[in-house]
Amino acid sequence: MSVFQMYGRWLDIIVILFVFLCAKASIRYVCYWRMMRQQGCQPSCKKAFVRDPFIGLDFAYDRLFQGSPARNLKGSFDMYKRLGATYTVNRLTTQTIYTCDAANIKRLLATSFDDYKLPAVRVCVMGDLLGPGIFTLNGHSWSNARSLLRPALRKERLCGLPNILESHMQSMLRQISFKGSSLDLQPLFFSLTMDIATEFLMGYSTNMLENPDGSAQQFVDDYMVCSTEAARKMTLGPLRFLRSNSAAKQSKTRVFKYIDSYIDECLKRMETRNLAVEHGNLLQELSSAIEDRQMLRDQVLHILLASRDTTASLLSNLFFVLARMPEVYAKLRREIVAAMGDSVPDFSQLRELQYLRWCINESLRLHPVIPSNAREAAQDTVLPVGGGPDGDSPLLVRRGTIVLYHVYSMHRDPAVYGNDVEEFRPERWDGLRPGWAFLPFSGGPRVCIGQQMALMESYYIVVRLVQAFERLEPTDYKPWSELFALATTCENGVHVKMHKA
Ligand code: HEM
Repeated sequence: MSVFQMYGRWLDIIVILFVFLCAKASIRYVCYWRMMRQQGCQPSCKKAFVRDPFIGLDFAYDRLFQGSPARNLKGSFDMYKRLGATYTVNRLTTQTIYTCDAANIKRLLATSFDDYKLPAVRVCVMGDLLGPGIFTLNGHSWSNARSLLRPALRKERLCGLPNILESHMQSMLRQISFKGSSLDLQPLFFSLTMDIATEFLMGYSTNMLENPDGSAQQFVDDYMVCSTEAARKMTLGPLRFLRSNSAAKQSKTRVFKYIDSYIDECLKRMETRNLAVEHGNLLQELSSAIEDRQMLRDQVLHILLASRDTTASLLSNLFFVLARMPEVYAKLRREIVAAMGDSVPDFSQLRELQYLRWCINESLRLHPVIPSNAREAAQDTVLPVGGGPDGDSPLLVRRGTIVLYHVYSMHRDPAVYGNDVEEFRPERWDGLRPGWAFLPFSGGPRVCIGQQMALMESYYIVVRLVQAFERLEPTDYKPWSELFALATTCENGVHVKMHKA
């Protein structure tokens, strides 16, 4: 075959490929056009400015050289204020939709749940940190993982929680008196929620509060390093492979070692106990369904991330504010003391404490623990708003589009919460029913499975602390700023002086 014939054949192949790709693209565009017409979609007119509209080199530059992504929350909120509740970032290769509109978020999480899946970046980064589990799975594997966890968090099982809460709460109070009146409450909350979660879910507590300087403390520190690293990698998106952190890798190895020996200890203890008494313990359910030890460890890590970091972050954020708002603290204390003096509360009493509920709601509104999240369109679909010049028309979402939703900004909608959205004002909850505009525990089929546990645990801990201390004072005056991790808490801790009752 001559050189010309060979070139000719290559040229044929290239032309055929080109025609094929053009035909495919045309068919897709016809489908989009048809869907847009049927659903009344309009193209997005609210677009964020991008310097490189082709492959996103500006994104790469910002993420790699503009330093820490902390304080992203306020920056993102400012973007929504500037561009509207739904805007897009369009590049030749990708389209990303940003929204803080409650109607869109409801469609994404509930009404069109099956049209979306978890974004690949989350599956990769969290899977790398925790292994595959409920936070990284889609479809059938996800619903299997969820049904495995659900029995352990049934309402009836929560009746075992008060005794566990009280014994660990006493350890926390002992730690506070041991440390003296000025201390950082945040690490104590992280140890407390770990001790409670491990005892309630696995039947054997890590008892970090009783042994604050041992391997348990190393685990807490390592786990935070891994969580921060995962959050940072997630913001890098496709560029995450450029980030390498050997300290985080070492932390991860130590975290795995700690959890493995913890599981060994739990299983050993379970063998020597009466299993009937323990019925419903999560580790028991998991270990009878999963034989592989690595998979068991992954599931345990997922549930610990879900239950421990989130509740500790909520408590830290709340006490950060309470220390700075003595009038709110005093009002809360009056309600608690009037209802139960200094006696141990039961869950039905906790449910009656209205001002306490408002304070927790207000903390979750102002400082949501999971302030932003994302889904990826698994097929072409539509969001109800975001298209057209006013953003009031439906918006087409093409398969593969990432939809980022911002609960932090949605919780600051003046139309729902009034003009003082940046204020911590529990009284705003009097008669307020925000529906989908308040989503601290998410919504739809992937709604938080531990919401009841988290709320009862938080109510209980707040009540016992407020009963024991008449007054709090902050010992630093820095404003609240976010610690960039998988669950958002205060960057500078909760440094307070506590005055005994
Ligand atoms: C203040 C405390 C808590 C907050 C704010 C919170 C918030 C959330 C949110 C926003 C999600 C949805 C995540 C997503 O869609 O990507 C979620 C999921 C989840 N939460 Fe919670 N959570 C809390 C406590 C707990 C506790 C105590 C447990 C368990 C004991 C728990 C177990 C889970 C699980 C297993 C999921 C995954 C559900 C699924 O994907 O099907 N959470 N949580």
